[in-house]
Amino acid sequence: MKVWAIVVAAGRGERFGRPKQYELVAGRRVVDWSVDDAREACDGVVIVVPPDRVEDGSCVAGGASRSESVRNGLAAVPEDADVIVVHDAARPAAGVGLFHAVIDAVRAGADAAVPGVPVTDTIKRVAGTEVVETIDRATLVAVQTPQAFRASALRAAHSGGGDATDDAALVERNGGRVVVVPGHVANRKITEPDDLEALEAVLR
Ligand code: CTP
Ligand code: MG
Repeated sequence: MKVWAIVVAAGRGERFGRPKQYELVAGRRVVDWSVDDAREACDGVVIVVPPDRVEDGSCVAGGASRSESVRNGLAAVPEDADVIVVHDAARPAAGVGLFHAVIDAVRAGADAAVPGVPVTDTIKRVAGTEVVETIDRATLVAVQTPQAFRASALRAAHSGGGDATDDAALVERNGGRVVVVPGHVANRKITEPDDLEALEAVLR
């Protein structure tokens, strides 16, 4: 089975204040940590970067949204890939083991596999400032990347365009079977500057 990865690194980092994927963490760029895990676990890697950062043949230019960036990456993945893993460059502490876990779940028959961690806060649905209901936390997981897909399921999910905060959502909308594997709390996404400080400790 041929396994390819798409590492999406074309965001603008508006909440962070600048493109966080190019910040240094534990001595290396955030994107390099993410790409290294992908290279170790997969047969090939496509890195999706801002248009002015396309450096070599493994890079393609990103789009206006995360989903568009994934589609630009998909166009560069060879047709004979059986499994495609999509990973956020902004999660530098995923680790090779988590890549293998999601890949194995797809090999075992799922259309997609995502890492999930238990939700520790109480979550309420609201309408403006009014609470509508409290959702049973036991039925919720917070979902991370890397996410692995049967290649044809990912291509079909993206074929109609569409936008979502992760790729599994598009596969779900298409009726695909998505399974959850245990994620890692340390596999935190860099969103705000505080996240970078926390990851510095994890990666050292
Ligand atoms: N991403 C991308 N192309 C986009 C938007 C996001 O490749 N048009 C990537 C980011 O580089 C990041 C991942 O998708 O690795 C997750 O996105 P997010 O955390 O939202 O990063 P940004 O979009 O850069 O941050 P912000 O939303 O604060 O601007
Ligand atoms: Mg974003």
